[in-house]
Amino acid sequence: MDLKLQGQPILVTGGAGGIGSRLCRRLADEGAIVVVIDIDGSRASEVALSLQSGDCRNAYGFEADSSDPTRMSEIVESVRHATGREIYGLATCAGVVERAGFLDGALPELLRRQFELHVIGPAVATQAVLPSMLIGGGGSIVHISSSVNGHSGRDLFAYSTSKAAAAMIAPSVVNEFGKRGVRAVTICPGRVGTASALSRAASSADLEAEMLSTQVSGRWIDPDRVADVMAFYLSSCSEGCEGAVVDVTGGNWTSYGRVSHLGGVVSEN
Ligand SMILES: NC(=O)c1ccc[n+]([C@@H]2O[C@H](COP(=O)([O-])OP(=O)(O)OC[C@H]3O[C@@H](n4cnc5c(N)ncnc54)[C@H](O)[C@@H]3O)[C@@H](O)[C@H]2O)c1
Repeated sequence: MDLKLQGQPILVTGGAGGIGSRLCRRLADEGAIVVVIDIDGSRASEVALSLQSGDCRNAYGFEADSSDPTRMSEIVESVRHATGREIYGLATCAGVVERAGFLDGALPELLRRQFELHVIGPAVATQAVLPSMLIGGGGSIVHISSSVNGHSGRDLFAYSTSKAAAAMIAPSVVNEFGKRGVRAVTICPGRVGTASALSRAASSADLEAEMLSTQVSGRWIDPDRVADVMAFYLSSCSEGCEGAVVDVTGGNWTSYGRVSHLGGVVSEN
């Protein structure tokens, strides 16, 4: 399927990470102009350079905290200036799992950090690209939430509530800008075998078994499959799916109960 992304500038926050870097590669293969944004600037540059050494001449790497509005707007302006094109797509992959229980004194500060990263960051990035996207006649925004946006896990209160809130950004965007050609969806991955997820799982003897017990395949999801799904929703081929909440959960809702689109558990076993 031709995703019709040739020559389209697409920003990827957390673009140096496990899912983000695979998405950047997938978009480069489609001929998109890939803008790798990460708080780890040297890894963002490495990813952009590795794309340039392939077929993708138009790849850029930027260091940025994706929740910094000034920096995100600067990047948008740099890309418009360098390419002469309006921004067509945004994927927000920046994220970190931090755990704390209710009796942990660090919980309030951790909640603030998780909301900053998973809600304010994607909202700020969305705000930064929208003016350009509207000038260009529309485009597509894909936010990563998580399969845990509708249930909790061991010490995951801050992470799952922030991911539940993140799932409200896409419906709000399409409600306001859908008639002007802007699409937005929320992707909810399950257990994806990125380096950071694998090292979290390896931190305790029973954690990996617990994490994989809910995957119907019993295996980690390949990050490339998440990238494939995201690339599809970044393309105009996904017209008609505006506001969708897309499960890439490895079927784990069959054990947890399906989550509602607002992030609440509909049923649980
Ligand atoms: N891997 C999984 O199993 C899984 C499951 C569900 C959801 N997710 C979500 O998918 C996203 C990507 O996960 P991953 O496994 O690829 O993680 P990862 O740790 O490999 O990548 C995350 C990237 O985000 C970057 N980052 C962190 N804070 C940032 C900030 N403030 N601004 C810009 N960049 C920042 C990191 O430097 C890193 O490169 C995250 O939001 C995560 O919560 C992952």
